[in-house]
Amino acid sequence: MKIIRTVREMQFNRHHSRGFVPTMGALHLGHLSLIEASKRDNEQTVVSIFVNPTQFAPHEDLAKYPRPFELDCEQAQAAGADIIFAPSVEEMYPVNPTLIHVPKVSALFEGEKRPGHFDGVATVVAKLFNIVNPHRAYFGKKDLQQCAVIRKLISDLNFDIELNLMPTLREADGLAMSSRNQYLNDAERLIAPVIYRELGALALKLKTSQLASKDVDVCLLQSEKVLAENGLKVEYLSLVDAKLMEPTKVIDDNCHLIIAARLGTTRLIDNLRVLDSN
Ligand code: PAJ
Repeated sequence: MKIIRTVREMQFNRHHSRGFVPTMGALHLGHLSLIEASKRDNEQTVVSIFVNPTQFAPHEDLAKYPRPFELDCEQAQAAGADIIFAPSVEEMYPVNPTLIHVPKVSALFEGEKRPGHFDGVATVVAKLFNIVNPHRAYFGKKDLQQCAVIRKLISDLNFDIELNLMPTLREADGLAMSSRNQYLNDAERLIAPVIYRELGALALKLKTSQLASKDVDVCLLQSEKVLAENGLKVEYLSLVDAKLMEPTKVIDDNCHLIIAARLGTTRLIDNLRVLDSN
């Protein structure tokens, strides 16, 4: 008889290296870059397509979220997916599901503006990890706070999964690719790139001038004003430590600018690591 005392040793010993890319579909090049990365690193790549109801608030866009399933399958296959996991809501959720709450990193920003959102994300990702049982998982830094939540989820619940955080893919004019960009009308689509442009200008200012704390706040407010003048309703614009997802004034490796803004009825998020600005 064997007595096992560590979690690591208890965990299932898998033969194939399996990479996993969780998505809600409406795939674009950003999603496909995650699939390609998984294909490079693993013998087998699983992509899930599931518009997860528990991460949407009742007034949000669950019903209108785009679901071009056939096209998604074609694109995922071309990018290197071996398996698509596309369960129904009934398959995934019982009545009154158990929800997972990841504290602290989920409290501010998206967590504050979208109460319950990260409980839904953490719950579905934990379920998907248990179902797919991957060695490696791939997430985009476009959703920076989601990355912090998943990092803590993996660590706290002892998932034996290597987390790979991948760079944000952008349109030629800088707009971060997003399934929600298709909600923008032509006029809004022309305005949207100002978000990334302003993040770049602000990050450069913060990087090159050694600002006192109060001056950082002044710069953030100035940028909010520029964005408002362009018709954007800024929900938050903040300088944060990307691991803690708390405001910071210290410019270091982890320091990111994060933003959420509404353009008409569309809600856009983006971020930039301050030291990456040029
Ligand atoms: P979704 O918005 O479909 O995104 C799936 C993955 O693609 C996420 O890891 C996201 O960060 C990444 N992604 C989105 N836009 C990207 C871009 N422009 N460049 C690179 N990667 C990008 O995020 C979710 O779905 C859900 O919350 C999910 C994790 C699937 C749980 O339901």
